[in-house]
Amino acid sequence: MLDDKIRQIIDGCKSAIEWAKCARDIGEAKVKFLGKSGALTLLLKELKNVPPDEKPIVGKRLNDVRAELEAALERAEAEFAKREREERIKAETLDVTLSKRATGYGALHPLTIVKNDIVNIFIGMGFEVKDGPEIEHKYYNFTALNIPEDHPSRDSADTFYIGDEMLLRTQTSAVQAHVMEQQKPPIRILCPGKVYRPDDDATHSPMFHQIEGLVVDEHLTISDLMGVLGEFAKKFFSPETKIRLRPSYFPFTEPSVEVDLSCAMCGGKGCRLCKGTGWLELLGAGIVNPAVLECSGIDSTKYSGFAFGMGVERAAMVKYGIPDMRLLFDNDIRYLKQFR
Ligand code: PHE
Repeated sequence: MLDDKIRQIIDGCKSAIEWAKCARDIGEAKVKFLGKSGALTLLLKELKNVPPDEKPIVGKRLNDVRAELEAALERAEAEFAKREREERIKAETLDVTLSKRATGYGALHPLTIVKNDIVNIFIGMGFEVKDGPEIEHKYYNFTALNIPEDHPSRDSADTFYIGDEMLLRTQTSAVQAHVMEQQKPPIRILCPGKVYRPDDDATHSPMFHQIEGLVVDEHLTISDLMGVLGEFAKKFFSPETKIRLRPSYFPFTEPSVEVDLSCAMCGGKGCRLCKGTGWLELLGAGIVNPAVLECSGIDSTKYSGFAFGMGVERAAMVKYGIPDMRLLFDNDIRYLKQFR
């Protein structure tokens, strides 16, 4: 009877070891057979029912079985632990000879490239970069720039208003008065930034970028303006590039000019890019209207200045021959990455 029970325990424990798949299975077998309420432990408790003269023999027998099973379980557990450790090490091994997965390199957006190029050229000529707010008071966007109350550009069809007083600036010229309020001449600043106008077609976007230049000092004339912009054109496009001035009108400059570049694609002979004229429109400029200087507290009998404003998208389109401005905003990586 007792012998049968012992046999059952030995067989049960050995087959548990045989069927175990991991160290945890062995741990469970340990509890099941040798634990506090394990099968063998329970059997040991029955020892008190054994007649006194048989007790030593049965006791020894049970202890031997216990030692034997304990040793078998420990061996199996150690074996599993070793195998699991080896497997983990194998799984965690890095194959340093494996070739890497291809990753794309990032690139600057063509507008950023062109903006940086333009800014760097002017920095080289001693200009300082200034920032201004995109949400602007109408005073800075219009009034301080000598733009009359009834000027059509103030109309809500041409300007995004935020309430009655504030608007999204329509031109980086709005930074001029901010700078002149804070800084006394000589002033030589460049202001790149976003501007907003309610236009949307192949050559206009409701948000676009401008770069404003303002120079205020004694004895400045239109030939200083021509010298600076002529130098810029040569550096930005090619050493052969020439500029041409055409009369224009802006309330904040007098006289005002439109500055054209000789077409880099055809060298001035006339082509598709310049629409046969040999010239490309690039920017607006002029001699700062004395009324603008006075409005910002600068003595216009002592100082004069020149200003210019160019579209960054326009400059990029001219430089790279991009036919449609929307290509710059569609964010098609295949298109954009060719400018790297
Ligand atoms: N602000 C003008 C525009 O947006 C450009 C300009 C700037 C003209 C400075 C003259 C002087 O069209």
